[in-house]
Amino acid sequence: MAEHTSHQNDQAQTLRSMSKGQNGNSPGKGFATRVFSITSGKGGVGKTAMVANTAVLLAKMGKRVLILDADLGLANIDVVFGLAPKYNLNHFFSGDFDLETIMVEGPQGIKILPAGSGVQRFTRLDTEQKMRLLEALDSMHGEFDIVLIDTEAGISENVTYFNTAAQDILVVTTPEPTAITDAYALMKLLSTQYHEKHFNLIVNFVKNEDEALDVYKKLTMVANRYLDISIDFLGSVPTDKQMIDSIRQQKVIVELFPQSKTSQAFEAMARTIIEEPQNLEPKGSVQFFWKRLLDFGHK
Ligand SMILES: Nc1ncnc2c1ncn2[C@@H]1O[C@H](COP(=O)(O)OP(=O)(O)OP(=O)(O)O)[C@@H](O)[C@H]1O
Ligand SMILES: [Mg+2]
Repeated sequence: MAEHTSHQNDQAQTLRSMSKGQNGNSPGKGFATRVFSITSGKGGVGKTAMVANTAVLLAKMGKRVLILDADLGLANIDVVFGLAPKYNLNHFFSGDFDLETIMVEGPQGIKILPAGSGVQRFTRLDTEQKMRLLEALDSMHGEFDIVLIDTEAGISENVTYFNTAAQDILVVTTPEPTAITDAYALMKLLSTQYHEKHFNLIVNFVKNEDEALDVYKKLTMVANRYLDISIDFLGSVPTDKQMIDSIRQQKVIVELFPQSKTSQAFEAMARTIIEEPQNLEPKGSVQFFWKRLLDFGHK
């Protein structure tokens, strides 16, 4: 009898963690891993800074975080953290090593799949390489709550692949007209060619929140007129000279200057990311960690 009750308790516990995973507040262990791509049309707008700082904050909030450095030609997440990984994703894509072998650990226990720099550049992953990554990540299901994919800038095949494989797309721009135009071009391509309907916007290098909201308004106005998409405002980050100092020290600003306005802006975004309900609608494209989720739904 006692055994029966304890079994029922186990079941109740499992159901509770499952429903938590479904509303996105706290993915239950072994259930729903959330995958976010951080992307941009124009380069140098702060994607890597965003990924590194948010990852540290999410880890501090108790999340198990994996960063996938998908800038396969010009890696830099390892540099931001002051790491010198021996192997990288190029070794995985060339078939030499598995993901566990190339994975390194950053601050706060964050796990990182580093990209290689320069040497052998996978500018365009082939179908087999994409499937291998999908399978390999899928086998890590349950090990991570949140995966952050740091993509390269632009609209290359790799960029569209990583964005469509993520559950949520976070587009980073600055108030510069060229960055806004390129962010629009990226969303346009992803919506018209790949049926992506929902985007989140982060505006970096701003003077104040009003400037960020102005960028958001401009983008939504044009998007509403010409594209069938919705854009959520995720937050903004001020231009901050301490960001440059932190890069020089190979530490993230949220660790070096946790009380700064910039760190607080990153913290607000990390909280929004956690609190945002998980997007459980299959998007029609092949998605990371999705196979297990679908299998689960059919049981
Ligand atoms: N809010 C900010 N204030 C000041 N400097 C910043 C800010 N955000 C990022 N930077 C700096 O701008 C530079 C570019 O940032 P980062 O490398 O994160 O951009 P990126 O979008 O990842 O670039 P790429 O397209 O080359 O991958 C870095 O030196 C970074 O430290
Ligand atoms: Mg980068």
